[in-house]
Amino acid sequence: MSDNYKRVLVTSALPYANGPVHIGHMAGVYIPADIYVRYLRLKGKDVLFIGGSDEHGVPITIRARKEGVTPQDIVDKYHYIIKKSFEDFGIGFDVYSRTSSETHRKTASEFFRKLYEKGEFEEKTSEQYYDEEAKMFLADRYIMGECPHCGNPNAYGDQCESCGTSLSPTDLKNPRSTISGATPVMKETTHWYLPLNKHEGWLRKWILEDHKEWKSNVYGQCKSWLDMGLQPRAVSRDLDWGVPVPVEGAEGKVLYVWFDAPIGYISNTIELRPHDWETWWKDKSTKLVHFIGKDNIVFHCIVFPAMLKADGSYILPDNVPANEFLNLEGDKISTSRNWAVWLHEYLEDFPGKQDVLRYVLTANAPETKDNDFTWKDFQARNNNELVAILGNFINRALVLTQKYADNKVPACGELTDFDQQTLHEFSEVKSNIEQLLETYRFRDALREAMNLARIGNKYLADTEPWKTAKTDMSRTHTILNISLQITANLAIAFEPFLPHSTDKILHFINAEKFAWERLGSTNLLTAGHPLNESELLFEKIEDEVIEAQVQKLLDTKKANEASEYKAKPIRPNIEFSDFEKLDIRVGTVLECVKVPKADKLLKFTIADGLENRTIVSGIAQHYAPEELVGKQVCFIANLAPRKLKGIESQGMILSAEDFDGGLSVITASKGVKPGSEVR
Ligand code: 2FM
Ligand code: ZN
Repeated sequence: MSDNYKRVLVTSALPYANGPVHIGHMAGVYIPADIYVRYLRLKGKDVLFIGGSDEHGVPITIRARKEGVTPQDIVDKYHYIIKKSFEDFGIGFDVYSRTSSETHRKTASEFFRKLYEKGEFEEKTSEQYYDEEAKMFLADRYIMGECPHCGNPNAYGDQCESCGTSLSPTDLKNPRSTISGATPVMKETTHWYLPLNKHEGWLRKWILEDHKEWKSNVYGQCKSWLDMGLQPRAVSRDLDWGVPVPVEGAEGKVLYVWFDAPIGYISNTIELRPHDWETWWKDKSTKLVHFIGKDNIVFHCIVFPAMLKADGSYILPDNVPANEFLNLEGDKISTSRNWAVWLHEYLEDFPGKQDVLRYVLTANAPETKDNDFTWKDFQARNNNELVAILGNFINRALVLTQKYADNKVPACGELTDFDQQTLHEFSEVKSNIEQLLETYRFRDALREAMNLARIGNKYLADTEPWKTAKTDMSRTHTILNISLQITANLAIAFEPFLPHSTDKILHFINAEKFAWERLGSTNLLTAGHPLNESELLFEKIEDEVIEAQVQKLLDTKKANEASEYKAKPIRPNIEFSDFEKLDIRVGTVLECVKVPKADKLLKFTIADGLENRTIVSGIAQHYAPEELVGKQVCFIANLAPRKLKGIESQGMILSAEDFDGGLSVITASKGVKPGSEVR
């Protein structure tokens, strides 16, 4: 590291324990954090990687109410699902705990108490909506009413999901409590506020002047918050789920989830290192780095630092390398619409392929702008990069060693100019990757690691050791020695990115993990060192597999559209006499043919019990003509005839129109005589 820190404390956003984790979480937060930590560990740095579940907040209580269980039931379920996904994907936390733990309750409570006693909060009384039937103050999400902007009758107290406007509960017309249905009343309540306005001065200097090196998306967001001017923020809520406010008379109040969640980083460190946690949080020679998504920037760059500063004994983060968002096939990832690739489902469909997803999500990480995950790109990166470049090189180096060197590292003879040039090229990779990793540019760092495999492939293609084997075995051995040195180097360079695969490479070459400092070295494996049996590192992913994933998403989209669809409003009433004017009959389809030069039209000959009639109908895109022959369809028999494409249509066949425009012809459910009336 170019700085003088003695240890590095890495945190990654604590995910809410109200759903499993998906690729967006991984690409945005956990994979970059894990790459960084693995790199530091390989460098022999003193590093702790802190994770855990965020188990408080109103959405968890809402979900519990809906499902008729307790909030604790919800978080118990998801905490373990999330924890397992992280383990499966090799996210190497030193601790993964939870904010419902006793340690956290105590830590958060003491943190608040210290600030309270130092007079760092402002106490304010204001009026808020109260449900007299349920006897509780209502969080914004527990209030619904009419949106003042678009008239949506089901807008929430914080947002109208129909027109997207941010609201406050008092904006709603005819508000109602979602708990009891009652009309809420205004009632006074007292809360504690962190006066961010008082912290604005030092925050401006600390971020805008002292941390110009922060990523531009992070710096820019902080600047716009600061330029708008900071306001006091309430750090307590009237709610029965969370850490109780440790002040007398504050019954029924808990710490606001965004006050207690970042303290979770401290609690989890305490759980891991009860005796020296303070060194990690308070000693100036610790480098603190928070990995988060862009929606968390204000809390980690402004609110949490203000809390730490208000306490006075803590260090502040050195960097907050927040990522932007990952979309899925062009649409925003959404838990409620099930528009996501869930990690546990991915592993069911692609067992053992954790590293493929790690690779794709890093290569495509939303580091500077929102990015898109597509299954086609996933397949292409697997087939054209992991299989064709990295896997191919390693496989060739190992198979050739089996064939020409008895599966032992052969001796290295005299080097040609080309050998020297190759060794020189790959010795430069180390400082390139390092520089990129130290500045949180993980995509570029991965590309640089892949270049090492490219160098290897080129080397084998140019030197052709299978040809030299015919005339000069010692030359073949030299080439294989160099190829195996490159292979061992790949096991170092890729360890932060693809830990499962580098474990496999290490097994193939029968070696223990190498230190990062040895990257670029040309004597990682000594002559005579025996290798193990090897197998293919990556395998091609076929089109059918990808098509199945795309189909899964299309099915989700269809199901969402179906559930989002609302039937059209009913038209104004008519008199019975109006209805009686319509003569609807059942007729048997005798003949049905396409109308030439008209994509949509079919021409029917219908037996109507009197004489046959011709009807032209616009359903050609929904039925093949022969499907309808023999069917008994309903039609309006007394509609004035009209000409369509030169054919006189004597009536109209009735169909139901589905929400997606699909048409389904109405048929008699039992056989009836042609000409039967429909009433
Ligand atoms: O956005 C989220 O998912 C939050 N649960 C992140 C919290 S990060 C930290 F403060 F704990
Ligand atoms: Zn609205």
